[in-house]
Amino acid sequence: MAMDQINGKVCVTGASGYLASWLVKRLLLAGYHVTGTVRDPGNERKLAHLWRLEGAKERLQIVRANLMDEGSFDDAINGCQGVFHTASPVLKPSSNPKAEIIEPAVNGTLNVLRSCQKNPSLRRVVLTSSSSTVRIRYDFDSKIPLDESSWSSVDLCESLQLMIFALIYLFLRNYVLRKKIWYALSKILAEKAAWEFCGHNGIDLVTILPSFVIGPSLPPDLCSTASDVLGLLKGEKEKFQWHGRMGYVHIDDVALCHILVYEHQNSHGRYLCSSTVVDNNELVSLLSTRYPLLPIPERFELLDRPYYEFNTSKLTSLLGFKFKSIEEMFDDCIAWFDEQGYLC
Ligand SMILES: NC(=O)c1ccc[n+]([C@@H]2O[C@H](COP(=O)([O-])OP(=O)(O)OC[C@H]3O[C@@H](n4cnc5c(N)ncnc54)[C@H](OP(=O)(O)O)[C@@H]3O)[C@@H](O)[C@H]2O)c1
Repeated sequence: MAMDQINGKVCVTGASGYLASWLVKRLLLAGYHVTGTVRDPGNERKLAHLWRLEGAKERLQIVRANLMDEGSFDDAINGCQGVFHTASPVLKPSSNPKAEIIEPAVNGTLNVLRSCQKNPSLRRVVLTSSSSTVRIRYDFDSKIPLDESSWSSVDLCESLQLMIFALIYLFLRNYVLRKKIWYALSKILAEKAAWEFCGHNGIDLVTILPSFVIGPSLPPDLCSTASDVLGLLKGEKEKFQWHGRMGYVHIDDVALCHILVYEHQNSHGRYLCSSTVVDNNELVSLLSTRYPLLPIPERFELLDRPYYEFNTSKLTSLLGFKFKSIEEMFDDCIAWFDEQGYLC
């Protein structure tokens, strides 16, 4: 991509979300004109943080679009050189997960891509996928870090789903686990559908696969991941128990990586975006040493899951990106929770 096409007009779907708000902030700081899509542009409370961002008054536009309404992204996307597709249902409680999680994620992604296809100005699409599309499998050598060539197993997710459904009658807490498996499945199926569609239609697609995102939250309400972290800092174990071993990444790094792969002429394919992988027990030991006054849980039950690390050299070695440390991401996140009065 030539430099004169950079700092043009881009679209961010789901712009008022946790990650997307930070991406909008970084895009505006970098000089882009940003069209953000939201489901309800009339909800002033949910959008006020976006209008407070530097450059927003001059270069931000907010447009209504819903993943489930065919063609509703056409206007927002038309005329944009870049599209950052972040909107997707994230770990919401649901009585009908297929309709409420899988369909908006998969059909919604195709809906957005069909709008991209109609846009003659389009240069590249950056899709926010997830590291859960890489790590949910048992058939790998745990001595070799997982990289972007790895795909989570749809069969494994579906069989876990059935097993968990049965377990729900025994242990209510497995609702948490069930929600997370539906979410992972939605991300796998949506990313696969995007690759297939873009392959057939000649769209330049790059995907970012963040691990668990940590950092200050710009929107007024805590999203699901931020409230899980707050729960951990207040002593709750339930939400993190399922993590077992998990990668973590600073929210600012995730936003910067989206822009890096959009701008970089040679970027292609998938990009695992993760700073550090740790077990729950390593995480709580690090956090309780650093924050002895917080009631962080002491220990988690060990899960029978394969050990893994992530190989992020596509971002670090090839594109020269440097991730913030796990200490820095939690320091920034905890300082923000404290400032907002969440830790009282
Ligand atoms: N947070 C993490 O740790 C993490 C890790 C890896 C990947 N990701 C990915 O990052 C993206 C953003 O997640 P997040 O953590 O920032 O969560 P979030 O704050 O809940 O953001 C999700 C966004 O998707 C939008 N959305 C959901 N259903 C929609 C629909 N039917 N039509 C239009 N928009 C819809 C939401 O809009 P409303 O505001 O209108 O509900 C919201 O803006 C997702 O693709 C997620 O899978 C997140």
